[in-house]
Order: sequence, then C-alpha cells, then structure tokens
Amino acid sequence: MFREPIAEIAELFHVYQSGLVFHALCAVARLEIPDRLADGPRPVSDLAAEVAADPDALRRVLRLLDGHEIVVHHRETDRVWLTDRGELLRRDHPMSVWATFATLGISDVAHRLVDTVRTGRPAVPGVLGTGFWEYLADRPDQQAVFSQAMAEQARLLSLPCVPLLDWPDGGTVVDVGGGSGVLLAAVLDAGPGLKGILLDQPQVLPRAVDRFRERGLADRSETRPHDLFAPVPAGDVYLLSRVLHDWDDDEVVRILGAVAGGASPGARLRIFEDLLPSSGPLAATQAWSDVVMMVLYPGARERTLGQYRALLERAGWVFGRTVAGPPGMHVIEASRSAGAR
Ligand SMILES: C[S@@+](CC[C@H](N)C(=O)[O-])C[C@H]1O[C@@H](n2cnc3c(N)ncnc32)[C@H](O)[C@@H]1O
Repeated sequence: MFREPIAEIAELFHVYQSGLVFHALCAVARLEIPDRLADGPRPVSDLAAEVAADPDALRRVLRLLDGHEIVVHHRETDRVWLTDRGELLRRDHPMSVWATFATLGISDVAHRLVDTVRTGRPAVPGVLGTGFWEYLADRPDQQAVFSQAMAEQARLLSLPCVPLLDWPDGGTVVDVGGGSGVLLAAVLDAGPGLKGILLDQPQVLPRAVDRFRERGLADRSETRPHDLFAPVPAGDVYLLSRVLHDWDDDEVVRILGAVAGGASPGARLRIFEDLLPSSGPLAATQAWSDVVMMVLYPGARERTLGQYRALLERAGWVFGRTVAGPPGMHVIEASRSAGAR
C-alpha cells in the first residue's frame, strides 16, 4: 500500500534548511556579533549600528539562529543574547571556534560543487579567480583568520594526540606546514629538552612567533619560511599535521620525499590525519571532509591507511604504526628506510 513519505520529506527539508543556518553562522561570525554580546543582552539596533548592518536584516538572521539555540532573541524588547553554544563563537572564549565559521573557506565555494562533480577539479579557481593558498597570500587579514581556524581545529584534533606519543629527551622536532604553532608548542611543553623548528609560508609565521614567545618557548623554537616541496632542515622528529590531505598523491610523495631528504638517520615522521576505513561506510564527518578537500584544492582527499602506506613507501619511509587520537584523527608513524642516508 502506498505510504506518503512524510518523515523522509521532513528529513530532506531539514537538510535543505540547515545549509542556510551554516551561512547565517558564518555571517554573524564575520560581523563579530558574538564578541559584542560578551557582556549580556543588547538591542539589535545597537548591534546593527556598531557593525554597519541593516537592523531588519540582522534581526531576521538572529531569529534564524535563535531557532538553533545559538542566540536568544526576545521579540518584545528586541534584545539578543548568546546561549552557551553561541558563547563558543566569541573570539576570547578559551575553546573558541569563531575563526572556523569566519574564515574564507567552504562556505564561499560550495555553491559551485556541481562544477567540481562535473570536472573533478576544485571549485576555488572558478569562484576566487586563483588557487586557495594564492588567494590567502594576497590578503593578510583573511590569511590570519584562516590560520586561526586551523589553530582551533589543531587544538581539537592534533593536540589530544600529543600525550599519547613518546617524545625524545632531546633533539629537534620539525613541524612542516606547522601553521601558527599550536601543535609544536604542545610538543615542546611535553619534551622540555626538545628544540623546535616550525616551517610554513612566510605570511603565516608571525602568529607562531607570538605564540612561542607568549608560551615562554622563544629560546627553544624558531620559525622559517618554507615551501613544502623544498629541502627541510635536519631534525629527529618531523610532524606533518593535516597537511597531506590538501595535496594530490604525487605532491604528497614530493612532500614526503623532501622531508626524507633532510631527515637525520633514525629520524621519525609523525603524520596527523584522519584515516578512512579500508572497507565499509565512511563516517559522515569523513565523507564531509573528503568533499571539502576536493572542492578547495586540486587532487586533495582523505585517505585510508593503505593509501598513506603506499605513498610513504614511494617516498622512502618505512611505516611503523598508527596511534588513534580523538574521533577524526590518527597519527601515522614512519622512519627512514634502512640504508637511507
Ligand atoms: C590545513 S593547514 C594545517 C596547519 C597545521 N599543521 C595544523 O595542524 O593546524 C595547512 C598548512 O600548510 C601550509 N601550506 C600550504 N601551502 C604551503 C606551501 N606551498 N609551503 C609551505 N606551507 C604551505 C599552510 O600555510 C597551512 O599552515
């Protein structure tokens, strides 16, 4: 007997509507509305005046977010305040995820996903007129927000792995594509005898310099401008945190090969990435991240352990083991091939 698919339609409409909620969150994050609610309820008209927004438009977006428990909008007084969830969008919250919503990224290009599906190429050049990294490099303000977003995500994904790993008493840890230094700072804290070198694009380094100074790590750390495909300085432990999934297979082999070329004999490599299951369904967040990579960067993808092992082998590394981190993160350990320099 025909059954009207009421529940299924409701679920599809939930998906249909939730995309706009994401964009509403990005909009209020970019306008830094949560910071302006730090001291409690405020009239929408005051907020709108402060951020040069249209009061009616802002009110309507805030009402949408009220329905998703990000803010409360009190209609009678036209005042708005943050929920506990909304507090996480304040920049000064210790667990802030403000930059993840405020950054240039998937919210700006996902509307061209159909182009990516047709061509297999990222949507970014069609929308931004250039590659993602090149676009950011020309826009320091947006680069800073992106780096902050990466720091927020490193704090949630890579940092919890640090206490699960043994760190040598001395030697040099080189964080390749280390961003603003969240991970390397935690490693230097875990290994008081270690020195650290952070390599990244020149425009990314000042935030890492500040972080190391603020954490009292200035004398044990240095930052160097770097290209991922160029030779790396000598080191004992190399970190590649959430870098390799941004690149295609051949580029990953070149990056791993460049690291192998600089590594001291006996050096270890630690790759921080999510691992797709080798069979069966992906977790929803894994499939999401894989599509995000595909839309943003040419050839970028999430990979299985088998795929990473094959790439490590091509670049002269010997796979050691994996260590499971929080959901969405593993550490893959490798060492230099026997007989390598
Ligand atoms: C996804 S972020 C990861 C940052 C950090 N490792 C983490 O776990 O948060 C990728 C990093 O690669 C850097 N990167 C991108 N292209 C690069 C290149 N050609 N040379 C050096 N670094 C590059 C970016 O600046 C960024 O910091």
